[in-house]
Formats: sequence, C-alpha cells, structure tokens
Amino acid sequence: MRLLPLSIALAVVAVLPALADDVPFAAPPLQGGHSSGNVASLGDIMGKIQLRHIKLWYAIKSKNWDLLDYELTQVRDSMENAVILYRNVPVEFIVAADKPLIALQEAVKVKEGARLERDFADLTAACNNCHKAAQIGFILIQTPTSSPFSDQKFQPTQK
Ligand code: HEC
Repeated sequence: MRLLPLSIALAVVAVLPALADDVPFAAPPLQGGHSSGNVASLGDIMGKIQLRHIKLWYAIKSKNWDLLDYELTQVRDSMENAVILYRNVPVEFIVAADKPLIALQEAVKVKEGARLERDFADLTAACNNCHKAAQIGFILIQTPTSSPFSDQKFQPTQK
C-alpha cells in the first residue's frame, strides 16, 4: 500500500480548522491547555443527537417508556456536551431545545402520553431554529418517516 505523501497529508490537516470555523458556533474549543484532538467535533455530537432524535420518535410511537426515558437522558447529555465544549453556542437555543426534553421527561414519569408528539414537534422546531441561527438552515430536521434501526426493537417487551 502506498502512503499519502506527507506534504499532502499536512496540507489536508491545515485546512481542517478553517472548515470548522466556517460554521458559526462550531469553532473548536481553545481554552483548557490540552489539545483539542480528543474532543468530538460539534458535527459529530450532532450526528449522535440526530440518531437519538429518531429513536425518541420510535420510543414515543411505541409508548416504550423505559427506552424513551433512556434516550431523553442521552440527548440531554449530548446537548450538555455541546455547550460545555463549544462555549460560543448561544445558550438560549440550548435552553429552547431542553424545554421539550424536560417536558418529555416529566411525561415519562407519570406515563402521560397525550402531549408526547407535540413536545417532540417542539424539540424538532428547536433543532431547526438553532440551525437557522447558525446559518446552516439547510440542515433541516423533520419527524422521522421510517426507522433506519432494523436491529433494534422499539416495542416494549413484557416484563
Ligand atoms: C444550540 C444550537 C443547536 C441545536 C439546539 C441543535 N443543533 Fe444541530 N447543529 C448545530 C450546529 C452549529 C451544527 C454544525 C456543526 C458543525 O458543522 O460543526 C449542527 C449540525 C447538525 C447536524 C449535521 C451533522 C452532520 O454531520 O451531518 C445534524 C444532523 C443536526 N445538527 C441535528 C440536530 C438535531 C436532530 C437537533 C435537535 C434534536 C439539533 N441538531 C439541535 C447547532 C444546533
């Protein structure tokens, strides 16, 4: 196998931070003294949030309370990572996304299904509002139309 000439490899690495800088809020963390090499990019954190946004929907559709509770915690953790790592992400947009997530957690506690889909719609709107503010409105999130997770069963199993 032939290796990439070092000069080309270095040139590729040199443009990476410039690309990240193009998207507002997504500048890599500078403070802390440690290298940012181990830090997940905001795009990667968002990719995980996207997968869990889909799982949230199918947990709601299947009234799988345990799974819903679990995925809500995962999404909130990922959002928290996004603000901790990327401090120029405007807090109000995170708070706006957190509101429907908290509402869903409250609903899970009392197993109240009436508002789940509306809260999910509010969450999706909050995703898109932040994307618009970040000038990446072309990343348009919608209610999932099918599950890519054929290896995961969303219906709750009988205990
Ligand atoms: C507080 C702002 C904010 C919120 C809220 C937010 N995003 Fe993002 N999202 C971003 C930014 C900024 C990027 C661009 C990151 C980059 O390219 O470095 C992004 C990128 C993405 C991407 C592209 C990732 C890729 O690799 O293709 C997806 C998908 C995504 N977000 C999904 C979501 C979903 C789903 C939600 C809601 C559950 C959400 N986002 C909520 C700011 C936000």
